[in-house]
Amino acid sequence: MFLPILFTISLLFFSSSTHASVFDFCVADLSLPIGPAGYSCKKPAKVTVDDFVYHTVGIPGNTSNFIKAAVTPAFAPTFSGVNGLGISIARLELAVDGVVPIHTHLGPQKLFMWWKAQYFNCGKTLAKAILSFNSPNPRVQLLPFALFANNLPSEIVEKTTFLDDSRVKKLKRVLGGTD
Ligand SMILES: *[C@@H]1O[C@H](CO)[C@@H](O)[C@H](O)[C@H]1NC(C)=O
Repeated sequence: MFLPILFTISLLFFSSSTHASVFDFCVADLSLPIGPAGYSCKKPAKVTVDDFVYHTVGIPGNTSNFIKAAVTPAFAPTFSGVNGLGISIARLELAVDGVVPIHTHLGPQKLFMWWKAQYFNCGKTLAKAILSFNSPNPRVQLLPFALFANNLPSEIVEKTTFLDDSRVKKLKRVLGGTD
């Protein structure tokens, strides 16, 4: 319960960048396509308190998956209130042995606030973190998926990664690429 309340309050104080320098807020109109500057603003008369509250980020994610990790984003596509404000957060859970695949964010900077653990949870309990971004819609590229979840011929991937044939084919199978 604490998390959503904290986040709701933050939105009232942080208003900077892009649309927000002209308007106090620019709640995303998700019915219109996204552009380079984010989503179009909903008409102010249609904006409600609910646009600035996002409870989902207060609910633990499901780590029963192949990387044993769960990310719950509060980004503009799901939390329309952050659109245009230049901020967003995500909740991360890493089960024991869970990993955050090596990745890059296209553009934004990220602040990691770990409660415990690192990129790989080598501990004995669930690790949790809150990630904060200086973008309302931070995009991510996961390196293992970029390299192996594709249809490039394995030969090309082998040459560019210096990995051998069997290893590349194994990774392609695990991550959903084709040989
Ligand atoms: C978590 O995900 C797994 C795999 O998709 C699913 O079987 C399980 O029911 C989910 N658990 C919850 C609590 O949603």
